[in-house]
Amino acid sequence: MPDGILGNPGNLVEPDQVHKACYTDDDIFEQELDKIFHKSWIYIGHETQVPKVGDYWTTWVGRERMILCRGEDGVHVLYNRCPHRGAMLCQGLNGNAGKTFRCPYHAWTYNLDGSLFRIPVEEGYDGTAFDAKDPRFSMKPAEQMGIYRGFVFAKLSEGGPDLDTWLGRGARAAFDDICNRSPEGEVEIVQNCFRMTQHSNWKIFLENQLDALHPSITHHSTGEAAAEMQKVYKQRTGEDPPIGYQFLADFTLPYEKWDSLSTYGHPYGHTVLGGYMGLRPRDPITVSHEEALTKAYGAERMDEILSTNVHHVLVYPCLSVQPPLQQLRAVRPLAADKTLTEIWHFRLKGAPEGIYERSLAYYYHVNSPSTMVNADDLQNFNACHEGLRLGGGGDWVSFHRNAGQDPVENGVTTSVTGMSEQPMRNMFAAWKEYMSAGS
Ligand code: FES
Ligand SMILES: [Fe+2]
Repeated sequence: MPDGILGNPGNLVEPDQVHKACYTDDDIFEQELDKIFHKSWIYIGHETQVPKVGDYWTTWVGRERMILCRGEDGVHVLYNRCPHRGAMLCQGLNGNAGKTFRCPYHAWTYNLDGSLFRIPVEEGYDGTAFDAKDPRFSMKPAEQMGIYRGFVFAKLSEGGPDLDTWLGRGARAAFDDICNRSPEGEVEIVQNCFRMTQHSNWKIFLENQLDALHPSITHHSTGEAAAEMQKVYKQRTGEDPPIGYQFLADFTLPYEKWDSLSTYGHPYGHTVLGGYMGLRPRDPITVSHEEALTKAYGAERMDEILSTNVHHVLVYPCLSVQPPLQQLRAVRPLAADKTLTEIWHFRLKGAPEGIYERSLAYYYHVNSPSTMVNADDLQNFNACHEGLRLGGGGDWVSFHRNAGQDPVENGVTTSVTGMSEQPMRNMFAAWKEYMSAGS
């Protein structure tokens, strides 16, 4: 292990390799929560997750539990903590609080913006330092909250760039692309989501999202089975199989095809993987979607919107968005070796139902408990974490593929090949910057 690693974790990251402690060391993990997850904008949820006044969802930001809720005046993000004796106020995942949050322990009650509403037998505080107007006796709001096109983010520290600036052109594209595909320019979240606990480090998951080399290896068997089913379907019915099979059959694409894609590394670790799926077949559903968008925006803009073929946008460190497939995965690190991911999907407001069904097919084919796609990925994540944890065989992880070859222009790195490990290097460059701050 390099000298003084905990004092300066930046030493763990070199331009083309990183030390295994980044993934397995508990102290490093605690520093990540403080220096990355409490210092950057973290995705909380979508405005439509809480459509009615009193609706709430709980979630995780770093080591904190937070509440996303809707009051009369809009959406709030609050710490899930009662200022009386510290009890977690909302103990379930979601619900409707009515007009107030009421602590189950001693019934201190709060308005939906977190301000204190009422305390039982308040006279007991007469003559004490208690002051109902003092914010420390109200539920604390997140230090900062921002909303971009309905996607709610919070930051648990003051200062730094605002949400728009922090997202930048690279990450904003994720939300623009998904919303623009709606004839109303808005999406609506579908409740509920798949939740998965992985017994591996959060970065292993993120790295995999933009890893264009692994699909035709890890998912080859799934791709072959889907391609076979396409033939059987056609033989039996005489019709073209549903597009869902194609989503999986794409996993058999040759290396050359994956290498022909591009990835783009943006500031703050945000990274984009260009699309490879043909999502504009001439089927009646796609045609009716085109018609709806043409009616809303005109033919030229419709073509521009549907030609945006982005496969993944990684909003570092918390989110992986697939705009054309209307889904996102939110990353909630729980320990160095334990990561929760929430996988949500969306409807495009005003788009034909068939477009939603297409995204639902992908959502199930890739994420459901019965798919082999996720299972095969998880097996690799576990294997990586176990190998790194033991680590007698070596201390470093390699990101040498095309290292030093990807051109940079105006702060954006474009990979020379689709399989370049540029996305991982870009994320670790951001990791190093966050983790070195103040040291
Ligand atoms: S801990 Fe919440 S009212 Fe006492
Ligand atoms: Fe995968």
